[in-house]
Amino acid sequence: MSVQRRYQLEFTSSSPQHTESLGRLLGQLLHADDVICLSGDLGAGKTIYSRGIGAGWGAAIPLTSPTFNLVHEHRRAIDDARLFHIDCYRISGPGDADSIGLDDILDSKATALLEWPERIQAVLPPARLWIDILDGGGAQRHFVFQACGERYVTLLDRYRQLVGGITIM
Ligand SMILES: Nc1ncnc2c1ncn2[C@@H]1O[C@H](COP(=O)(O)OP(=O)(O)OP(=O)(O)O)[C@@H](O)[C@H]1O
Ligand SMILES: [Mg+2]
Repeated sequence: MSVQRRYQLEFTSSSPQHTESLGRLLGQLLHADDVICLSGDLGAGKTIYSRGIGAGWGAAIPLTSPTFNLVHEHRRAIDDARLFHIDCYRISGPGDADSIGLDDILDSKATALLEWPERIQAVLPPARLWIDILDGGGAQRHFVFQACGERYVTLLDRYRQLVGGITIM
């Protein structure tokens, strides 16, 4: 299957609070089965952005870094939907993805949110939203979004409309 790859959106966050707000807006738009990949160096802001995503999605408890357990499963009270927050930093390669049950997660219709996705890029579905977070110095974080596949082009179009209305903090 060839998946359309289109560059769609970029913006700069000026504070951790701003990053969390931007994540919350994306979280509101997520569906079951969505795959969101968050790439960026240590301290880029992946977990802070994820915390916003979780809040916007409706997670019953706030998202924290899955550094130790590698996978955190979150539930949403209203419909019992699931969101898996995965940290691939300590996964040594695609072969190791089995150890976190990645196939089951991707088959489960849950929403998947991955930090350090480049560690397992070869086994990720080609249709996904890929986000690079670049440290711009100080509290500046530059976000670059690539929508891979029609679902994510639609998602990013809607996200752009929401982000356009956000107050810059
Ligand atoms: N605009 C910003 N957005 C997000 N974080 C920022 C921003 N400016 C400064 N920071 C700081 O950068 C750090 C980001 O931490 P976070 O845990 O989200 O990074 P991470 O990318 O998940 O790192 P790791 O790969 O270690 O898990 C925090 O200490 C936060 O206060
Ligand atoms: Mg993190």
